[in-house]
Amino acid sequence: MDLLESIDCSKLPKHVAIIMDGNGRWAKERGEDRVYGHHEGVISVREIVNASAEIGIQYLTLYAFSAENWNRPKAEVDALMELLVNTIRKEIEELNKNNVRLHIIGDFASLPAICQKELNEATELTAGNTGLNLILALSYSSRQEITEAARKIAVSVLNGTLKPEDITDEVFHKHLYTADFPDPELMIRSSGEYRISNFLLYQLAYAELYFTSVHWPAFRKNNLYEALLNYQQRERRFGKTSEQIQTNTNQHV
Ligand code: IPE
Ligand code: IPE
Ligand code: MG
Repeated sequence: MDLLESIDCSKLPKHVAIIMDGNGRWAKERGEDRVYGHHEGVISVREIVNASAEIGIQYLTLYAFSAENWNRPKAEVDALMELLVNTIRKEIEELNKNNVRLHIIGDFASLPAICQKELNEATELTAGNTGLNLILALSYSSRQEITEAARKIAVSVLNGTLKPEDITDEVFHKHLYTADFPDPELMIRSSGEYRISNFLLYQLAYAELYFTSVHWPAFRKNNLYEALLNYQQRERRFGKTSEQIQTNTNQHV
C-alpha cells in the first residue's frame, strides 16, 4: 500500500466526482456482452466507495446513468435499471456499516417506479449516517439541471419573492440538485475519453480534471490513490499567479 502512504490526508479533496466510463469496451475486449461490463463495474463502485470512506473523503459523486443514456438499446437500459435496483437493495447493509449516506441527483421522476422506491428507501435508511456522502447521478443532465434552476428562479422573480438584482452565484447554486454539497475539487474520468459528457458543468468550474485509460470495471483502489496523488501535486491558482499562491501557502506554514 505504498501509494496510500504517500497521500497527504490533510490535503484531500472534500469532494471527488467520477465519470465511470468504459464498461462496454472492457466487456467487448473480453468477448462478452456490454451488460457483463456493467455488472463488473459494480465491484469497482463498491471498492471505490469503501476506499473513499476509509481515507476520509466527504463527498463522492458517481455518474451512473446520464439523461442521454436513455437513448441506448432498450435491452441495455432495462439491464442497467435492474442492476441498479438489485445493487441498491444488496448494498444498504454495507453502506450503513461504513457510515455512508446515499443521495441521488438527476431527473428522479424519469426513473422506473421500482427504482424510485428502492432509492427512496435507501436514502431514508442511510439518512442518519455521518461519514461519506455518496451522491449517485442518475438520469442526470447538467444542462437540464441548469435550465431547471433558471426556471425556478424565474418563478420566484415572477411571484415577487426574489429580485433580479439578488440573483447571485450563491443563489443560483442553491437551485441546483447539488445545493447541499460543495463543488468537486477533483473530477476523474476512466476509459480514455477527454470529455465531460454533460456532467456537473457549473460545479466543475475550478475542478482539477484527471483522465485515465483504465476502464471502469478494472478501476481499483490504487487507481483512486494515483488520482489523489496527482491532484496533490497540482497548484490550484484560481486565477491568481503562482507567486501569490506560494506566498499564501508560506503564510499558513
Ligand atoms: C459506462 O460505461 C456506464 C454507463 C454509461 C451506463 P459505458 O457503457 O459507457 O462503456 P463504453 O464507454 O461503451 O465502453
Ligand atoms: C457518460 O458516459 C455517462 C456515464 C458514465 C454514466 P457515456 O459513455 O454515456 O458518455 P459518451 O457518450 O462517451 O460521451
Ligand atoms: Mg461510455
